[in-house]
Amino acid sequence: MVEWFEPYKIKAVERIPVTTHEQRAAALEAAGWNTFLLRSKDVTFDLLTDSGTSAMSDRQWAALMIGDEAYAGSRSFYRLEEAVRRFYGYRHMVPTHQGRGAEHIVSELLIHAGDVVPGNMYFTTTRLHQELAGGTFVDVIVEEAHDPTDRSPFKGNVDLEKLEKVLATEHVPYVSVAATVNMAGGQPISLENLRAVRELADRYGAKVILDATRAVENAYFLKEREEGQAARSIEDILLETCSLADGCTMSGKKDSLVNIGGWLCLNDDDLAAQAKNLCVVFEGLHTYGGLAGRDMEAMAVGIEESVDLAHIRARVLQVRELGERLEALGVPIVEPIGGHAVFVDVRRVYPHLGQDVFPAQRLAGEIFLDSGTRTMERGIVSAGRDPETGEHRHPALELVRITIPRRVYTSRQLAVVARSVAGVMERAASTSGLEMVFEPEYLRFFQARFRPLV
Ligand code: F0G
Repeated sequence: MVEWFEPYKIKAVERIPVTTHEQRAAALEAAGWNTFLLRSKDVTFDLLTDSGTSAMSDRQWAALMIGDEAYAGSRSFYRLEEAVRRFYGYRHMVPTHQGRGAEHIVSELLIHAGDVVPGNMYFTTTRLHQELAGGTFVDVIVEEAHDPTDRSPFKGNVDLEKLEKVLATEHVPYVSVAATVNMAGGQPISLENLRAVRELADRYGAKVILDATRAVENAYFLKEREEGQAARSIEDILLETCSLADGCTMSGKKDSLVNIGGWLCLNDDDLAAQAKNLCVVFEGLHTYGGLAGRDMEAMAVGIEESVDLAHIRARVLQVRELGERLEALGVPIVEPIGGHAVFVDVRRVYPHLGQDVFPAQRLAGEIFLDSGTRTMERGIVSAGRDPETGEHRHPALELVRITIPRRVYTSRQLAVVARSVAGVMERAASTSGLEMVFEPEYLRFFQARFRPLV
């Protein structure tokens, strides 16, 4: 295969801030050592998230102009509905302002108090909506997913034995399956595994709801590594992935290349009617769901662009290139390298720090101090507290996520980031942890504040 390259040329550029160490130190202190609380004016390389941060194409910018802002029955809604049906294959689509809007509706609709929702590792907003609806999330991902050094190709797979045990003993409205699995390091789930999940769910009368947020990236991994998939198109693999679930939630801010937007899909007519009704309550009329007509128009174009092989290949391989650079520089990362981000294995960076002093939060701060690169904690802070005991949850993985927006940064910029992270590693032995000085009730990682321990 030819070397990967960016399959686009740059039509507009945006200057990025270049700062001094003193400026960064002041900014980090003002942000309470939480990268979510930094102002973007102080950030040089913004690798916090790939969510809503991608660059839109000229075709998407043009589409904004023809967005139809009718309150009801907008032309742009029908355009989006057509694109979602064509590429994701579901019968009904309810637009939402972003992924968690869809998660809210589907959780309210399907979960009752006492229900258990098994899934291939939690995602923060997904699990919270399941809990707020009265459910309990149970992790049924394969064991390999908890080991950052295990190189298995499908670390997003469901452990079928674990799943069957839950299905046999609990009331399970649906199995919550993500493709790819964000918190495991952006790891794919295979079609073979998803087919087996479908069969098990059918046997026990449970539904399957797919988190399709990065299902195009998942399809690329399957084309690359699942037996029998190499010759298939991304479109085909995506359609088959979706066909194995009764519906999906979607954050269009990832795969679909827009700055805002999402949707909920369901095949069942009655459930879809109820979902549209809840959409009116929480999001907006079911033909705009909290979005402007122009947002739906741009998302319809973004969906089409997202399944282009040249695009998705460059996307995944740019992330891999960063991961390989970091590895070559001796930075311990989660293997194999995932689709949207490189995850630094902080337990191996700071072996002297216990999880209760928030080592990944500290490392994210240190990386910012060094080069103005904004990353994100994905460890004990993100995992939050157990709603029953009130204790910290202690996830097996204590990670910093270096997340790559789509079509935004060049490989040279990412090479600078890699060298910066390696430089921070050199000072690891003399680095201490943090204490939390403010903790909000929900999704604490977004707003918590910290202070360095001396
Ligand atoms: N599911 C997955 C797998 C996600 O990664 C996200 C968002 C959501 C659902 C929720 O979607 O943000 O549109 O409401 N992930 C972002 C991230 C926030 O940075 O990983 P949303």
